[in-house]
Order: sequence, then structure tokens, then C-alpha cells
Amino acid sequence: MPVLTPKESASNKVYINESKTQEASGTNAIVQLRSVTKSYPNGCHALLDINLELTKGEFLFITGPSGSGKSTLLKLIYGEELATQGEVIVDGYNLNTTKGDHLSKLRRRIGIVFQDYKLIPQRTVAENVSLVLQAQGYTRKEIQRRLEPALKLVGLVNKANSFPDKLSGGEQQRVSIARAIVGTPPLILADEPTGNLDPDNSWQVIDILQKLNSFGATVIVTTHDENLVRRCNQKVLQIHSGRWVK
Ligand SMILES: Nc1ncnc2c1ncn2[C@@H]1O[C@H](COP(=O)(O)OP(=O)(O)O)[C@@H](O)[C@H]1O
Ligand SMILES: [Mg+2]
Repeated sequence: MPVLTPKESASNKVYINESKTQEASGTNAIVQLRSVTKSYPNGCHALLDINLELTKGEFLFITGPSGSGKSTLLKLIYGEELATQGEVIVDGYNLNTTKGDHLSKLRRRIGIVFQDYKLIPQRTVAENVSLVLQAQGYTRKEIQRRLEPALKLVGLVNKANSFPDKLSGGEQQRVSIARAIVGTPPLILADEPTGNLDPDNSWQVIDILQKLNSFGATVIVTTHDENLVRRCNQKVLQIHSGRWVK
């Protein structure tokens, strides 16, 4: 069942999938890290004995200086890296043992936003946003149905046919958010999404992420921008040298 916001007009609705966590495990946790340590092959200990439990529908900021382990933490959550020790459980999947089709299935339920947007320069905004759905075998009609609310949410309907190099940095980041959420994932991870943006554009991006959270998505945002975090009344965890700061 989709979760809808009562506040949005019908044309602006974005549908967030219900997490399957509840049925699968009987808990409301969508992300669980239990005593997680991550050491890279070069011997770098990026995370040390990290615990984290995120309930469905939460918004979490993770702050910390460069090199403190923020990106590694998100990579463990979307399965780009494996924990060296401990357990990572996301949306009912144990990442230590999830592979192949199951991992692809989980990844479709996670929207990811990066600092550097990662848009395809030769593709229009609409194409960039809809490519994910095409790859997943959605029909053209279904793609069209999903594209408009996603672009509306980020305020870029009028740029649907523009190419990324004709957009400002803030607009490019908003395209990447539309791309992340067009498949209506219940979990959104944003790794320093405002790292290349000025304060106004940063705020717009955070505002959109908070809006998605109000629609029912669970959102994790990493940042080293303390000002931005102070402006929001959201849960904050601070990481330093791979450990939570108490
Ligand atoms: N692929 C990698 N191989 C080796 N070391 C890495 C790798 N990725 C990150 N690191 C190291 O892990 C630590 C944490 O990095 P990262 O998670 O990127 O931190 P942050 O995102 O907070 O800047 C740093 O010391 C970094 O150099
Ligand atoms: Mg990082």
C-alpha cells in the first residue's frame, strides 16, 4: 500500500513503498547495524564496533569530518561494501549473506544521492530520471506516470528536456534526487548531497529530503555542514574515526 501525504495536491503525490520489514521480521527497524567493523584491504579501519538502529520513517543526519567513516557506513547499508565483522540488516535482508538477485531487489528499494550527482551528460533530465525504471523493465506508460510527480517534487518539470550541462549545480542535484526516488524506495541515502552547493541550494535539497521523509521514506543524510544540521530539527549522530561520538 502506498503512503500518501495528506498535504500534497493529487498531481504532486509521490508514492513511497511500504517497507517489507514489518512482515518479514515483525520489527519496525529498517536499518540495523550490530557491532559492525569495517577494515579495508589496505588495513584502514574505517568503522569500529558501530551499532545503529533506524526505525521506518526516521530522518537521520550523520555528521563528522572527512575520513570519519560516513561514506563507508552508507556503502555497507546499500551493499557496496561488506562488513568485516558484525551484521548489517536492511529492510529485512542480512547484507552479510544477500547476493545476486536478492541484492538487486534490495537495491531497488534504496534511493541513493551522491555529492557529485552522477548524471549522464548525453541524456536529458527526463531520460536520466527514467533510465533506472527502463532498466527494471517498467512499461513506457508506467515510466511516464512516475516521472512527472518525481520531477514536480524537485521543481524541474520545465527542465525535463534539458541536458545536465545546461543546469545549475543545485538543479543537477535535484535531478539526481528525482532519479533516486522515481522508483519510490522506502529508504533514501544521501552522501554529502550538499557538498558542492551554496547555502540556498543546500537548503532546497534538505527541504526536499525532509519532504520525502514526511511522505513516509526513511532518510539518512551525511554531511559535515553543521549549520545545515542546526537549521533542522532532526536526529543527529556524530561519527569520528569510525566510532560514534557520545
Ligand atoms: N576503498 C577504500 N580503500 C581503503 N581505504 C578506504 C577506502 N574507502 C575509504 N577508506 C578509508 O576509510 C576511512 C573512512 O573513509 P570514508 O568512509 O570515505 O569517510 P568520510 O565519508 O567520512 O569522508 C578513511 O580513512 C578512508 O581513507
Ligand atoms: Mg564521504
